[in-house]
Order: sequence, then C-alpha cells, then structure tokens
Amino acid sequence: MAFPIQRPRRLRRTGLLRDMVRETRLAASDLIYPLFVCEGQGVRREIPSMPGNYNLSVDRLVEEVLAAREDGITAVILFGIPASKDSQASGAWKDDGIVQRALRALREKAPGVTLIADVCLCEYTDHGHCGVIENGEVANDPSLELLAKASVSLARAGADIVAPSDMMDGRVAAIRGALDDAGLDRTVILSYAAKYASAFYGPFREAAGSAPQFGDRRGYQMDPANAREALREVALDIEEGADIVMVKPALPYLDVIRQVRDRFDVPLAAYNVSGEFSMMSAAFEKGWLDRERAVMETLVSIRRAGADLILTYFAREAARLLARETGS
Ligand code: PBG
Repeated sequence: MAFPIQRPRRLRRTGLLRDMVRETRLAASDLIYPLFVCEGQGVRREIPSMPGNYNLSVDRLVEEVLAAREDGITAVILFGIPASKDSQASGAWKDDGIVQRALRALREKAPGVTLIADVCLCEYTDHGHCGVIENGEVANDPSLELLAKASVSLARAGADIVAPSDMMDGRVAAIRGALDDAGLDRTVILSYAAKYASAFYGPFREAAGSAPQFGDRRGYQMDPANAREALREVALDIEEGADIVMVKPALPYLDVIRQVRDRFDVPLAAYNVSGEFSMMSAAFEKGWLDRERAVMETLVSIRRAGADLILTYFAREAARLLARETGS
C-alpha cells in the first residue's frame, strides 16, 4: 500500500469541503456588544485607546443600538458614566441613574435586542473601587446590599440580564434573593464568575473613568496564576443562582474557558476585554496584522476554547463580516 493512506489535506482543499467539516461556528447571535453611556445630548466622544468605541449619550446610544441591530447584533451590555460619584455609589442604584435611563429608552425604541446591565460600583464610587470602603478596605457584606439594590433597579428599568462584575463574595445569592423578593424571578443573572485582576482592563478604566484612586483590585479580583480557583468560583456562583457564568479576560485565559466548559453545563460567556481590543487595534493601525482575519480568528478561537457567548468590542464589525460571508 502506498503511503500516505490518510491525507488530512483532502478535507482542506476546497471552500465547500472546508466548511462542511468545520468544528466551530461563530454567529452574530453569539456576540454581545459593550457600550458606554454618558450624560448629555448628542454626545459621541471617541475613547482614545479604543478607536471606534464611544461614550454615548442616551439619544446617541439608541442610534448605535439600532444600527448594531441592523448589522445582526442581538445583545448589548451597558456601562454607565455618571455625572457625579459618591462613597455609596448612588448612581448605580438610583432609579434615575444613567444606565436606568438608557434601559428605559432602549426598551421603548430598540425592541428585539437583549439588554444586559453590568452591575458594579466602581464607575459610581468616588474612590473607584467595586465595593464600599470601611476602615480603608473594600468591605464585602455592606457592598452586597448596594449591588442587590442596583440589580433590582436595573431590572425594573428594563434589563433582561444583570451581570455582576464586582467579585464580592456571595453577591449572586444576594442579587438573586433581592430580584425574587421584588417579583423579578425572570431576570437572568450572568455572573462574572472568574474575573482576574488583569492589566488588560486599562483602556476600559479610561473609558469609564473607573480606575481605583488608591490601591488596586487584587483584594477581590483573581490571581492570574490560578485556574483551580476559577472552577471554585464558578461552582459557587452556580450554587448561588447564576444562570450564565463568565471568564474574563478571554485570550490570556483560554485554558480556563476550556476547563469551565468541561466541568459545568451552564452557558458560558467570555469577555474579550478592552486591552485585547486595544492591542489588536494598535497593530491594525500600524498595518502589522490583517484586520478582518485577525478579528475572526480571535473570536472563533474563543468559541473553540468553549465559550458560547463572547462579549467583544469587535461585535458589530464581526457581525457585518459574518453577514458578508453567508451572503445574507
Ligand atoms: C467593572 C468592570 C470592568 C470591566 C468590566 N466591568 C473594569 C474593572 O474591573 O476594572 C472591564 C472590561 C474591559 O476591560 O473591557 N468592574
């Protein structure tokens, strides 16, 4: 018998064959588009380190979501930039908070898009930490009350999904309890279950003005060296009532995504964060990487690692590329 019998190249030869045997597929409905909403009217302020992403006032946000829906985007996650900040993060839980107002506007003007509200205090506290400060430290249990209050307020304003990103212990249980007590048992919780203390959040903190004013977030976000701990965090959040869990960031943590996928059966999201977006954008600007190919390869790889859903600043662009591929 002539060698080789097995010729893997046979299945790679033509586009049609390659498509038939493709193991991982990416669809626009897998993508969640992050957006930053700010005060004012007619505001569309580009974020310097995240070209093509903006701080948008509510009116402009509605336009952006409608345009994204046109491109095939079915879900957005909102982050708020409040007019003022205080020690109790009141902008996060007041019914007239910036994200609450944005949700009401989108509910009315952009039906057919799943609305996700990030739940955290760091954009709303004057010190920039994700919880309240007591005796110079981020105090866990007093923060839970505010996170729960914020979640109820955001759900009432129209959020289909609340997504706690603070990394306080016990927050999923606190939020689930508060939502259920308020009759909001249909509101989904997408927990940032394994969120690492990452350098790759830098551009986001510029966009949201949420860098901590003292210290850092290592007292509550995870150590990048730990993967078993991520599995523990995910197990706890599922026990506490999380419907969907997330690993964040995505690219430096593909192994964690894979382990969570293999161990748990709930839907899994991954956050392709601001720094991942910015470093690729910088290379595109320099002409060092082919933009379309690098974007698609990145997103398919995050799916291949095991994520069902991807939060990504490339969402709109990728949805357009996918529509072109399928000719729809
Ligand atoms: C809020 C929050 C952050 C991100 C999402 N929610 C910043 C942080 O934890 O410092 C980062 C998202 C990104 O970098 O794209 N806690």
